[in-house]
Amino acid sequence: MKQLKNGLEKDGQSLSMVPSFVTGVPTGNEIGTYLTLDLGGTNLRVCKVILEGGRKIGNIKGQLYEVSEDLKTGDVTILFDFIADCVKDLLLKEWGNNIQENDKIDLGFTFSFPVIQTAIDKGILLKWTKGFTCTGAVGNDIISILQKSLDRKSLPVKVTALINDTVGIALAHAYYHSEVVLGAILGTGTNGAYFEQLENIKKLNHNFNPLDKMIINIEWGAFDSEKVILPITQYDNKLDKESNNPNSQIFEKLISGMYLGEITRNIMLYLIDRSLLFNGLSSENFNKHYIFETKYMSIIESDNTETLENTKQILENLFHISTTSLTDRQIVKRICQLVGIRASRLSSLALASIISYCKMEKSKCCVGIDGSLFEKYPNFSVRMHNTLKEFFGENADKIGLHYTSNGSSIGAALAALLANQSKL
Ligand code: BG6
Ligand code: GLC
Repeated sequence: MKQLKNGLEKDGQSLSMVPSFVTGVPTGNEIGTYLTLDLGGTNLRVCKVILEGGRKIGNIKGQLYEVSEDLKTGDVTILFDFIADCVKDLLLKEWGNNIQENDKIDLGFTFSFPVIQTAIDKGILLKWTKGFTCTGAVGNDIISILQKSLDRKSLPVKVTALINDTVGIALAHAYYHSEVVLGAILGTGTNGAYFEQLENIKKLNHNFNPLDKMIINIEWGAFDSEKVILPITQYDNKLDKESNNPNSQIFEKLISGMYLGEITRNIMLYLIDRSLLFNGLSSENFNKHYIFETKYMSIIESDNTETLENTKQILENLFHISTTSLTDRQIVKRICQLVGIRASRLSSLALASIISYCKMEKSKCCVGIDGSLFEKYPNFSVRMHNTLKEFFGENADKIGLHYTSNGSSIGAALAALLANQSKL
């Protein structure tokens, strides 16, 4: 909570507390048709979103595209030209010839990386996270890079708003529910956004009404990157040192889907080296970074067969270790549990601090959450709820943890609408 306040006062703090320039809370009565783009989760997503008012959304028409490792690590123009091609694809499918000459379709862009915003349609990339390292982007305005790529393809599209995925979830959730306190992502990365009173955002010099609210993108993945607050293990340190962003995003590296499998692989290697697992037997694949994806932990954690057959299959197919004992498999399952439990408990820590900071711990409130970890990892939400009980006792039952799919797309449409309204 102390770091939240520091981040609201000055730039350059551990928690960036990025003002989103999205003011006001959606009422659920917003109406309009928007193109939305979502980059930074497992997939690139392009959608047509129709806000129908009355807290209703029309059938979302969209398409997922895989972003290859080459695109993630090449020049940003190549990545954004690829994105423009995907936008063209959806425009043709969903709008066809129904675009009047000189008409521009408004696009809301969910860009899930740390950005410093100076307006709702201006955002300078601070740093990449989650394995992206494209050249030519850090320090530059992301909207203008995207707009140039769209213009090069002569697409009738105007990028009107840039938001973080957490801002999108918070907006989308507020469209449906009135008591939303926070939007959070527990997926490839992790982060949260909440509605803050403008008078509390001391670092923002602007002519906003101090009684209004603005959504703040916390960038909590960077919490404790100085490694002075949380207990960090040797396995975490190894992962951090070997990552492409050492000493950065430490909280995210303890929690999110991109990293849990790798922490588990590090622990297994440690035990193998001491002959405490698989009789000390290793394999070439065991030495491959990130080969043990978090999805395998999900399968192992939910392996309830008597002899842990599913676990055996993974160890055989992925690591080519075919002589595992039941004890070996039980140890592997226990490691997955420990890493998974820690991640869910730390996620609750983030939620609990925002809920306390907003003084909502005794009120009925809800958190909108998206991301593959929350959606797919066994028992993640139950473990989170149990941890919230340790913080808030019976009051934890008043906190709803709501899985919100399509939140980023709906949020981007709402942001595009709010951006146009604020220009009126
Ligand atoms: C998606 C959202 O559903 O979830 C994205 O549309 C978000 O905006 C993503 O980044 C996070 O989850 P994951 O697991 O894809 O990283
Ligand atoms: C990373 C990004 C952040 C995003 C989060 C979840 O932490 O820095 O902007 O919200 O991942 O996708």
